[in-house]
Amino acid sequence: MKQRNSQVNERTGCFAQSSTNTVTFFFEGKLIKAKSGDSVAAALLEAGELILRIDPSGSPRGVVCGIGVCWECRCIINDVPNTRACQTEVRPDMKVLRQREDL
Ligand code: FES
Repeated sequence: MKQRNSQVNERTGCFAQSSTNTVTFFFEGKLIKAKSGDSVAAALLEAGELILRIDPSGSPRGVVCGIGVCWECRCIINDVPNTRACQTEVRPDMKVLRQREDL
């Protein structure tokens, strides 16, 4: 039986689950390791990936609120655009892409 405790990750500021189970997924084709129960945003911040979106003016955007309010973390997850990374739990082999709005 795995133990989980919901808590704020001190480094990322996002809610995360403390779990010993590891999940791997892909961001821009790069393999990312995360803890089961973490949000995509928390996992990407932990991996040092800060830019989740490029806005229409070409500016990089990333996690701001971490609680689903600002929509700055929206990216493409499993081919679905405008998905909030902070509100999406990591799943094995999910494919996450930086959302380009400047093209
Ligand atoms: S970081 Fe604000 S909605 Fe995800």
